[in-house]
Amino acid sequence: MTHVPLILQPVQFRSVTAKNRIVVSPMCQYSAVDGLGQDWHVQNLGAKAFGGPGIVFTEATHVSPDARITNGCLGLWNDAHEAFLTRLASMIIQAGAVPAMQIAHAGRKASSWEPWLGDGFNAPGVNSGWLPVAPSALAFSPDRPTPHALTVSEIAAITADFAASTARARRAGFKIIEIHAAHGYLLHSFLSPVSNHRTDSYGGSLQHRARLLMEVIDAVRSKWPTDLPLFVRLSCVDWIEGGLTIEDSVQIGKWLKARGDVDLIDCSSGGASPAQKITSIHPGYQVPFAEALRHQAGIATGAVGMIRTADHAAEIIANGRADLVFVARALLADPGWPRRVAAALGHPFIDPPQYLRATPA
Ligand SMILES: Cc1cc2nc3c(=O)[nH]c(=O)nc-3n(C[C@H](O)[C@H](O)[C@H](O)COP(=O)(O)O)c2cc1C
Repeated sequence: MTHVPLILQPVQFRSVTAKNRIVVSPMCQYSAVDGLGQDWHVQNLGAKAFGGPGIVFTEATHVSPDARITNGCLGLWNDAHEAFLTRLASMIIQAGAVPAMQIAHAGRKASSWEPWLGDGFNAPGVNSGWLPVAPSALAFSPDRPTPHALTVSEIAAITADFAASTARARRAGFKIIEIHAAHGYLLHSFLSPVSNHRTDSYGGSLQHRARLLMEVIDAVRSKWPTDLPLFVRLSCVDWIEGGLTIEDSVQIGKWLKARGDVDLIDCSSGGASPAQKITSIHPGYQVPFAEALRHQAGIATGAVGMIRTADHAAEIIANGRADLVFVARALLADPGWPRRVAAALGHPFIDPPQYLRATPA
């Protein structure tokens, strides 16, 4: 037997051990009803959990009704949501993976249509739409309504919503929580100078723009035990002149490392503005961000974005470019992708035991 590639070896964050370093990246399904998950969510994440990844993330799970991206987005603000997510977490554990939740607030991109309806939004009062909130009264795109610029007390209420959802996530049995601070949603919109034009202590310098993220981390950590890991997803660059740069993100990474209560940064990019220009989208195009933060900020990172082959995924981990590989679309196409990766790397696994008679692909 050859040496087991690092990507297939267990990894530990605080008290939590994942059986390998392949992660089901958060993927919205736009199929919840009033924030409540349905059979769809059980079969969708069930298929992925039984495909063999180490960690399975829920889709972005929103902290209040107005925090949702669409009317169909998942939420965690009431007892029914908590009961449903308890079942989901238990199912993921039964499949041998670590249940992880991404918690989120959509900010100025809230009240959007489900993507299969097109790139539109529900105006306030139309089709249950509402007015989104943002750091500044700047619309995401010219066709959208100008969002409400949050007051300091409204910001504090949102931070409290993050804490309340975290307490529910813990009770539901999740073992990792990830704060969504990427893709133009609320926390990223505060970080980015493109969307944050505030002149108070939440705007201006990078330190001020990062204040809300730090306050949300404090709030989440106040309800999340120290033996459980906390991840943060960042958009490491905005791909737009005057937007966030990798240098800014390395600085944020250093701050998060210095806090000592954040375990990993999941390194994505983009989403702050429709004016973004991604110079080249190719396999692994965001991996250099994970590599930069890992080496320059000294914090564990996750790589994500167009990672589709076994060799590529294994290379990222083996060469120390990231600690985890997050995969989204390859898993939509094939929930058995982790199983196939293991076979391609020469270390097929046959588990759970119920699948003992399956022939490795
Ligand atoms: C259907 C779909 C839904 C997504 N929903 C989320 C989400 O809820 N939260 C998030 O941070 N990223 C979300 N993403 C982004 C993915 O997590 C991932 O970062 C992106 O698709 C790039 O990885 P990939 O090339 O492996 O697909 C979504 C992507 C897809 C395809």
